[in-house]
Parts: sequence; structure tokens; C-alpha cells
Amino acid sequence: MLRGADSEIAQSISIEIQPTRTLPEEVQNHIGEWMHRIFAGMDVGIEWAGGDWSILVHVNGELVSHVNIVDRVVRVGGRDVRLGGIGNVATLETWQGRGLASIGMRTAQAFMCDELGVDFGLLLCEEDLIPFYRRLGWQVVSEPAVVDQPGGKVTLHHIVMVISCQQSEWPSGAIDLCGLPW
Ligand SMILES: CC(C)(COP(=O)(O)OP(=O)(O)OC[C@H]1O[C@@H](n2cnc3c(N)ncnc32)[C@H](O)[C@@H]1OP(=O)(O)O)[C@@H](O)C(=O)NCCC(=O)NCCS
Repeated sequence: MLRGADSEIAQSISIEIQPTRTLPEEVQNHIGEWMHRIFAGMDVGIEWAGGDWSILVHVNGELVSHVNIVDRVVRVGGRDVRLGGIGNVATLETWQGRGLASIGMRTAQAFMCDELGVDFGLLLCEEDLIPFYRRLGWQVVSEPAVVDQPGGKVTLHHIVMVISCQQSEWPSGAIDLCGLPW
């Protein structure tokens, strides 16, 4: 059984990991509209990066939960750090509270750490979701994230959380995501 899955649906869950650009156009459009519906009202005026990898969680063949990974080299305290940037974490409302986003997140974490071989994961979130990500092994760092926007570099107000992939400590210093946020 999948760790953390609601026992009623555990047998019906399947997980797909795909390079985002290779997903069929209709699937990309469907996910794009879904993410727009959820996130457009939350972070008005911020331009976001697309994902490099998509983690798709299905129940009985229906896409119900989603995570993106962005593979990027960023600057932390003046050093290059290769990150798996986690974004677009979402579960359809009717399927929430059954462990599906946790399964998608654990899959994303294992994939980016073991297959992609990144040094850390990094995600941006609001305060209320800190306990959810903490339960999955993430920790808050105090430095805000500086990101690129069409008008130049800006500092985001979001909470920055990281997870170590290779047992190294998160470096201290300013975080520049060297591109659009995710
Ligand atoms: C956050 C989200 C992805 C969780 O999906 P899920 O499949 O229900 O997640 P799980 O079942 O693995 O875990 C559920 C836990 O998430 C936490 N959680 C979800 N939404 C939360 C919120 N708005 N505030 C605080 N905690 C929240 C709760 O601890 C919940 O536990 P509970 O069911 O015992 O109350 C889902 O609620 C969602 O799609 N929200 C809208 C999009 C969003 O905010 N994404 C995160 C962007 S950083």
C-alpha cells in the first residue's frame, strides 16, 4: 500500500512522472486551467515559471492531484546550488484530505533527490501550509527569495521552505532564484 494513502483508495492510485513538455497538449491545457483557477487569485501580479517535471496522481484513472518540479541552478550566499523547485501543489477539492498531495510530494522528493540528483528542494508557500510541509520533512529558512520579474528583481513575501537531498546543510545567505519563481 502507498504510504499515507487513505486505505479505501490506496489500491486505485497510480502515479506518473513526466517531463512537462511531453504531456499531451490537452493534458497540459487541462492542468493549466486547473492551476489558474486555484492560484490566479492568490498571487496577483507575479509571473511564474512553468514546470520541468510533472507528478500526476490518478485515482481510477482520474487526475486528482498534481506537483511540478523545476530543475534550476540558483545562487545562495553567492554559491551555485542546484534545486528541485516544487510548485503547483494541488488536489481537486473533492479529493482533499485523503493523503494524495502527500503522496505526490513524497514522489517528487524521491525523484528530484534520487533521479535528478539535486542538492535541495525549495518551495514557496503561505504561513498556514508550514505544518503540512514540515510533516513531509521540509524546514523554513529565514531569508526571503529574490526572483526575476519582467520589471527586474523583486523580493517575494512568501515563506521559503527547503529540504536537503544529499545530507548537506542549507547554505546561509541571500537566496536568488535566478529566474521566475515556481
Ligand atoms: C494543500 C493541498 C494541496 C493539500 O492536498 P491534500 O491532497 O488534501 O493533502 P493531504 O491529504 O496529503 O494532506 C492534507 C493536509 O493538508 C493540510 N492543509 C491543506 N490545506 C491547508 C490549508 N489551507 N491550511 C493549512 N493546512 C492545510 C492539512 O493539514 C490537511 O490535513 P487534514 O486533512 O488532516 O486537515 C490542497 O488543500 C490544495 O489543493 N489546496 C489549494 C492549493 C494550495 O494551496 N496548494 C499549496 C500551494 S503552496
